[in-house]
Amino acid sequence: MTRLDPMVAIYPGSFDPVTVGHEDIARRALRFADQVVVAVAHTPTQAKRSYFSLEERLEMLEEVFADDERIECTSFDGLLVDFARSRESRFVIRGLRAVSDFEYEFQMAQMNRELWNEFETMFLVPNVDFSFLSASLVREVARLGGDISSFVSPSVLRRFQAQGLEGEGL
Ligand code: PNS
Repeated sequence: MTRLDPMVAIYPGSFDPVTVGHEDIARRALRFADQVVVAVAHTPTQAKRSYFSLEERLEMLEEVFADDERIECTSFDGLLVDFARSRESRFVIRGLRAVSDFEYEFQMAQMNRELWNEFETMFLVPNVDFSFLSASLVREVARLGGDISSFVSPSVLRRFQAQGLEGEGL
């Protein structure tokens, strides 16, 4: 890899669903990366059942980032480092909202580096307006009938509405 190669950064996650906070991080990464690959993990590290199927999560991401050809959305199975290698990238982007995120992120970053010494994790801080936002809170608020319209894109909102989760203001 030379300095002239395009800089490809992988932005992995569960994206269950993609929020405006995730969107902010992916677009911020384009300030230094030529291409951002938003990659939905098939097998999250922590055993958790997803709310939306892999296909639905990917479709929502594709809708959200349809306006920018520098952002590609895909999914991957297996280890993140193997996926990154297959895309000829050694840079991963993760959002860091608060100190509480740090322990989990630090552990993953170190493990990934153990698995591949060349691998670099780059932490980006989201816009302060999104520092409280998480996909799990969005799911909970939607489930309990709250208004999530400022936390997700219209296409994600429609998915919740299609499931009959229509809180006030939706
Ligand atoms: O949005 P999340 O759930 O915090 O994302 C976690 C993710 C998908 C980045 C992590 O679980 C992952 O990298 N999974 C792929 C499997 C893997 O490589 N595991 C070892 C990483 S330490």
